[in-house]
Amino acid sequence: WIAGKYYRSVWLEDYDCLAVLDQHALPYEVRVLYWRSWQEVFDGIRAMHVRGAPLIGVVGAGGLYLASLHIPQRFNQEPVTYLRQVAHQLKQARPTAVNLAWAIDRMLQWVQPHFSIQEIRTLLLQEFQRLREEDIQTNRQIGKNGVQILQTLYQKKQDTIHILTHCNAGWLATVDYGTVTAVFYLAQEQDIPIHVWVSETRPRNQGARLTAWELKENQVPCTLIADNASGYLIWRHQVDLVLVGADRVTRTGDTANKIGTLMKAVIAHQMNIPFYVALPTSTIDPQLSAGTSIPIEERDPEEVLFVEGITHDNTIQKVRIAPADVPAYNPAFDVTPAQYITGFITEKGYIPTDEFPQWVARTLLSSRSPAKEQAAT
Ligand code: MRU
Repeated sequence: WIAGKYYRSVWLEDYDCLAVLDQHALPYEVRVLYWRSWQEVFDGIRAMHVRGAPLIGVVGAGGLYLASLHIPQRFNQEPVTYLRQVAHQLKQARPTAVNLAWAIDRMLQWVQPHFSIQEIRTLLLQEFQRLREEDIQTNRQIGKNGVQILQTLYQKKQDTIHILTHCNAGWLATVDYGTVTAVFYLAQEQDIPIHVWVSETRPRNQGARLTAWELKENQVPCTLIADNASGYLIWRHQVDLVLVGADRVTRTGDTANKIGTLMKAVIAHQMNIPFYVALPTSTIDPQLSAGTSIPIEERDPEEVLFVEGITHDNTIQKVRIAPADVPAYNPAFDVTPAQYITGFITEKGYIPTDEFPQWVARTLLSSRSPAKEQAAT
């Protein structure tokens, strides 16, 4: 909900245009972007106008559907070749979240030479709509499975449960509900009192700009903290549990998520505070075993050197916060080894970490392609 109006983060308009909420403009302005070509989708994902692992999967899928509407003349006889090339390109838009490749592969099952281009268009449209609807159901189910953990804790504590989260794994990062925030919204529905510590998430401030805004819009009590305040709060027993999203989880449970997650996990482990990951199973990459194999996106150092905000007269401004010419390094994700994670909350249930590898082998590996480990570049 935004100012009392119901939105989803992505939808189709007139069957030839992908509409998305522009996450560059939030929380200052609610702006909708309209994309009519796969190139616009590619650029928009790369520049993070849309972001969050599940959302970029669905939007990337929408990009492939748009490509099927505009086959260049030289590919008229070979639309399948063209669409496979576009799919390959779209997968490269961002490297860490596996949901992008997963969703595009789901689309690619319909890109087959025995279908006419009209049939391919219809099938891609249907698959895109399915991915979108499934994402919503999946997140609601994650919420239902996760809220049981809060219920148990609340029965013991009989007081507000304080949860620390990092980055934005909210409805803005999915089609609706979010993964982490689905647990919060279900707690709200069940009258379990919660309070969320939102870490700002430098350098792009997804916590400050998106999660804090989203929780406030939905009346979930929250407090924004600087990233480096979390250790202090955990040490002071002001955090009952940590709950984060994920961009890619290996079959052993090593978890890539927004840079800054690992530090929280290590501190929580050291201080005996449970650390949970909420994720759809589409975020699990059963082909990878070690977290070191996950490709980690490195972004423009300018994101570290500058911050963007709004002035008193409502002008959005970007200001430098470091001396000119100082070098900066900007890895966008880190990997938390499974040993620091208490358990995984998925749409298929809650899986304690020590059962995770067997569960993946039973549930996912049997239904997906055989394991092939790739070294990260
Ligand atoms: O770089 P971003 O903003 O796309 O990173 C997003 C995150 O790290 C989220 O926590 C993750 O994708 C989970 S979203 C449900």
